[in-house]
Amino acid sequence: MRVKKTWSNTKIIKTRAKRGEGTSAPSPEEIKIYEKFFKIATKNKKNTKTLVLGATPELRDLAIKHGSETIGVDSSPKLLSLLTNVMYYKNSKKNVSVRGNWLEMHKYLEPNSFDVVMGDASFNNVPAKKWRDLFRITNRLLKKDGYLITRHIIYDYPPKKIILYEGVVKKYKQRKGTILGLIFGLGMYTKFAKKCYNQKTKIFDWSFLCEVEKPVGKMLSGKAKVDFINIVTHAKSMLSYMSSEKHFKSKIKGYFVIKGRNRIKKLHHSDILPIYFLKVKK
Ligand SMILES: C[S@@+](CC[C@H](N)C(=O)[O-])C[C@H]1O[C@@H](n2cnc3c(N)ncnc32)[C@H](O)[C@@H]1O
Repeated sequence: MRVKKTWSNTKIIKTRAKRGEGTSAPSPEEIKIYEKFFKIATKNKKNTKTLVLGATPELRDLAIKHGSETIGVDSSPKLLSLLTNVMYYKNSKKNVSVRGNWLEMHKYLEPNSFDVVMGDASFNNVPAKKWRDLFRITNRLLKKDGYLITRHIIYDYPPKKIILYEGVVKKYKQRKGTILGLIFGLGMYTKFAKKCYNQKTKIFDWSFLCEVEKPVGKMLSGKAKVDFINIVTHAKSMLSYMSSEKHFKSKIKGYFVIKGRNRIKKLHHSDILPIYFLKVKK
């Protein structure tokens, strides 16, 4: 399947191992929000256990920094090893990683054993028809007072207004936006939206980026250009599963209660990619 291939291709994953702007890594501002929620969830408890849905080094480092035994589960062994390598706490005894599919992890991880589960757009990597399954599995793995903290792409289709892609770049430059916000804008709010998004399957196909890579690259310069090229190398072969917030909430229902949802005004992609703080419902 294409998502799997993308995350395992060596050239592509090298663009992921480089963290910061120009990647889909959570920014320092977003990590602060994760940390705020993490602290509420763990209430300064000792000997906590955290499960990370993926290899995201910033999330695994955050949990280990707070003394939590941390297990990252990811289906790509190459990504696991590359992203472990860029971790601050890579040599910590609390740093554990497992190769596996999130939809199967309840078969080998102990039920009711985690204080926190964290994900970074993890649900956007799983077919929308499987979201309920993943909510059920994370619910089962969490302790009775556990929390799930996750960034998630939301998309209201059709967009209220269709913008020219040149206009998206202009706005990005004027607002000094984020490269991630630029990529979202180019696909989700231009003429490409109709071609890229399948309302039924909730699949968004980012391959349209091949078409805009050169012309948009020409409109950028310096670091912005380098960052744009880096993220496009990775993103153009991606598929994301995304839907309206109403649809996403309908899948959460029954398994979690929404305790918080944070966006960062300063980050222009943050409206599309809020961080959810969900308390388990047992
Ligand atoms: C967590 S998401 C998004 C990562 C984030 N934007 C970042 O830059 O760190 C991507 C990761 O999910 C992994 N992945 C996707 N589907 C998976 C599944 N069903 N089970 C386990 N890992 C999966 C991929 O291998 C990849 O490492």
